[in-house]
Amino acid sequence: MAEVVRSHNLAVVPGDGIGPEVIEGALMALDAVADAEGFALEVTNYELGANRYLNTGEILTDDDLARLHEHEAVLLGAVGDPRVPPGILEKGLLLRLRRELDLYVNLRPSRLLSGVSSVLNNADQLDVTIVRENTEGLYCGRGESENPGTELEISTEVSLNTWPSISRIVRYGFELAAARKQSLTLVHKTNVLERAGGLYLRAMKEIGPEFPGVETAYQHIDAACLLMVTQPKRFQVVVTDNLFGDILSDLAAGLVGGIGFVGSANMHPGKVSMFEPVHGSAPDIAGTGLANPIGAILSAAMMLQHLGEDAGAERLERAVEAVAGKIAPDHLSTREASELIAEAAS
Ligand code: NAI
Ligand code: MG
Repeated sequence: MAEVVRSHNLAVVPGDGIGPEVIEGALMALDAVADAEGFALEVTNYELGANRYLNTGEILTDDDLARLHEHEAVLLGAVGDPRVPPGILEKGLLLRLRRELDLYVNLRPSRLLSGVSSVLNNADQLDVTIVRENTEGLYCGRGESENPGTELEISTEVSLNTWPSISRIVRYGFELAAARKQSLTLVHKTNVLERAGGLYLRAMKEIGPEFPGVETAYQHIDAACLLMVTQPKRFQVVVTDNLFGDILSDLAAGLVGGIGFVGSANMHPGKVSMFEPVHGSAPDIAGTGLANPIGAILSAAMMLQHLGEDAGAERLERAVEAVAGKIAPDHLSTREASELIAEAAS
């Protein structure tokens, strides 16, 4: 074992449902990597989520936020509980964290792991990283309901798009594509959403010349869904708005074996960032041991990269790749799967 020389200060939010189960697996895998690579992890647990809300009425206090700010990264399981009306925890915790920490990049890679089966017969050609704008669009929380509950009810949801936010997410897409020598596809619906889409097109046009090596393409969201299924290899790095990114990344996850197989990062490069599996709290399988821990473990690998532990991140990804085929959802329990990955990462 290497001598411990570096230490990282993590906040862990296990959350609700299967959140604590997959986080236990991720921490097991992280411990194995830290041992092997010679760094230490200092973990502080935060009991945020449904139980705290139901017991105290609190979701995320200013004090919680100030404490989370003191860590290098946050690793989150999932939040959401059938006992709490939809939207309360998601908006009060997840959306608020994204906004307060200004986590403007939501990175969602999807790739078929060897030994995992897909509904597509050419899913091995899918290796896409979706760069989703994470602070604006239809998720900005602006809108109105008039005459609720009547025959005259009218509801609006506003899609907010500002040049600073759109230009920085498009720039991030270009930087990622350039670093990986990959193409960058903008996905939007510019033929109908001319104003919001126009801002993305302007950013592609103005920033593109700084990255002459990056090939660019454009697809409307509906065509992108079709092409991801029929011609998966057309996509490498995709930059898109908040809602389109949410939907397209679930489709991509479905094509690489299911939502339990993909991780994600909510990032502000260089600042405290948050890592979480793409799936939710899955109350239907909570407590059964059926939850796939791979999404949480791949999120932990993305976190290691953010912490500058590139060798650790690669070690963890290799470990997942090596055993993923044995973990096909129902074959191993969450804990058995996590132990297998931790062992492969040792
Ligand atoms: P979900 O992702 O929790 O579950 C969708 C389906 O996928 C379910 O059938 C579930 O059993 C299955 N599934 C999810 N994760 C899995 C895993 N690791 N292994 C095996 N199967 C898995 O989405 P759903 O049902 O729409 O939402 C449940 C709750 O989670 C809601 O309260 C929702 O708001 C919340 N949610 C939270 C998110 C987060 O914390 N980032 C993201 C999405 C939903
Ligand atoms: Mg989603």
